[in-house]
Amino acid sequence: MTANSTSQKPLRLGMVGGGNGAYIGNIHRIAARQDRAWTLVAGAFDVDAARGHAFAISEGLDPARSYDDFKAMIAGESAREDRIDAVAICTPNFTHFPIAKAFLEAGFDVICEKPLTATLEDAVALETLVRNSGRFMGVTYTYSGYPMIHEAKHMVATGQLGKIRTVQVEYPLEWMATAIEMEGNAQAAWRTDPKKNGRGGSIGDIGTHAYHLAGFVSGLKLQSLTADLATFVDGRALDDNAHVMLRYEGGARGLLWSSQVALGSSNGVRLRVFGEKASLTWFQEQPNELVHARLNGRTEIIKRGADDLSEGAKARTRTPPGHPEGYLEAFANLYAGFAEAIRAKREGREPTAIGHDIPTAYDGLKGVAFVEAVVDSSLASDQPWLTPLAV
Ligand code: NAI
Repeated sequence: MTANSTSQKPLRLGMVGGGNGAYIGNIHRIAARQDRAWTLVAGAFDVDAARGHAFAISEGLDPARSYDDFKAMIAGESAREDRIDAVAICTPNFTHFPIAKAFLEAGFDVICEKPLTATLEDAVALETLVRNSGRFMGVTYTYSGYPMIHEAKHMVATGQLGKIRTVQVEYPLEWMATAIEMEGNAQAAWRTDPKKNGRGGSIGDIGTHAYHLAGFVSGLKLQSLTADLATFVDGRALDDNAHVMLRYEGGARGLLWSSQVALGSSNGVRLRVFGEKASLTWFQEQPNELVHARLNGRTEIIKRGADDLSEGAKARTRTPPGHPEGYLEAFANLYAGFAEAIRAKREGREPTAIGHDIPTAYDGLKGVAFVEAVVDSSLASDQPWLTPLAV
């Protein structure tokens, strides 16, 4: 079965944030409808209620289900028989916690953007609430939606690389290489405000994606880290470049780089995993391929859509090899997975392949804990690279 072969009625989706001019909300909407997994029926789309209502009308929503804010949305949807099946939270980081908490406490399932929260305290509280409430919470770690990432995970898990020695992961971007937050860029403005973003700049915004991806594919659990954060743009309050050395349980090592000032890089997410028997390389700009190099052997390119791929990869594939699939399909795979996980929970059954290995609240919590450890490490004075050179 592939991601788009569902014959079930779409689930009803609500959205908070993601209105006119916002970035990720539109990606959520494209992803949600792609497999007929979801229909958008309600929302509080904007911090400005009037703008939110105008947006809801432009989307063709029933005006009765366009709400002034998330509290009115909870009240309105709770009173309906055809209430939303889940809410997608597409707002700046510091708002995730109060919005997600309120929806969970009102009995709704939640799909939340990363980083899960702006503080570790909030992330712990939210993850605990999810566990105790029995509600579903998916977190949109986009890159874990790619079929070839699932193939890589499968290859590591089935021992095809042998014991993992090293993981190299990077997420370089150039969009904040100048002080665009001071020139009216709405997205950059809240991302550089510690109160709205959280303590980690590039490491929170894109480092959390890289951290999740490395752990997702390698299956390794991070034990400790040492980090070097830098702020290259004058006047910026948070890091815009991060290098982090990773030590995993079992002895594997890793290196993570996130940067918002990497000129020439546009979402160049790259993952390399090196084991005792083989290595794997994946690069988001060629997401349909996985490069597999064996010790003293041949290097092969494994293509999405090949017959002998794992169930996890096949379930996330729509078209035959050669037809490019990419970011929007990966995002849609998350939405198809969330729908399947919610349905399986309601029906008391195991999810099918698309509903397995999806990012949840616990992954979100791990991401926030990672950011906190990175910032703490960078502020600490006993780091290896502080050792001066003799010559
Ligand atoms: P944005 O600034 O473009 O949009 C934020 C939207 O939220 C705006 O429409 C704003 O009016 C609305 N909003 C703010 N507070 C609100 C409230 N209390 N109630 C209702 N609406 C409210 O932000 P962007 O770039 O779309 O980021 C949003 C979230 O998505 C962030 O947490 C970010 O980290 C995450 N993100 C995730 C990506 C991924 O690959 N998964 C990519 C980009 C962003």
